[in-house]
Amino acid sequence: MTLSLLASYGTFAAMAGRFLLPTGGRPRRWLLVSDLGSFRAGATRTFVAPTGERIVIARRAAGDASGGDDRGAPALDEFVALSSTCPHLGCQVTWQPQETRFFCPCHNGTFAPDGSPTGGPPLEANQSLPRYPLRIDAGLLYIEVPLADGAAT
Ligand code: FES
Repeated sequence: MTLSLLASYGTFAAMAGRFLLPTGGRPRRWLLVSDLGSFRAGATRTFVAPTGERIVIARRAAGDASGGDDRGAPALDEFVALSSTCPHLGCQVTWQPQETRFFCPCHNGTFAPDGSPTGGPPLEANQSLPRYPLRIDAGLLYIEVPLADGAAT
């Protein structure tokens, strides 16, 4: 019975650790998401990391961010990349550009663009969506994601 309890606690700790430390300390790499010209305001892209983690990348509608440069190029803060897996019970969240939020349809969970919970069970439990770094280089959008176990760095 003691071994069963230890196994149960170990499994729980491993699952909790995945939400608290989604990369698990794995090496990370910058990967191409898109060219900026084809990523219009208000649109989203689903990105699957080498580890299989699903990430939703949203470009806020014009006026929701500080704006781009004088040449009309979008600014980095117009984009946000969050895990698309709800920390409550694992449903897939979607970006709602009109509401400027991420929404989980399973129990009406809502999240701010920075991933912090704003409504529903995630707010009650203070569960955020993990955020992923983005960068813009030469008109292209990149995301930093963990590599699969055993992948070369
Ligand atoms: S699974 Fe997302 S709010 Fe319950």
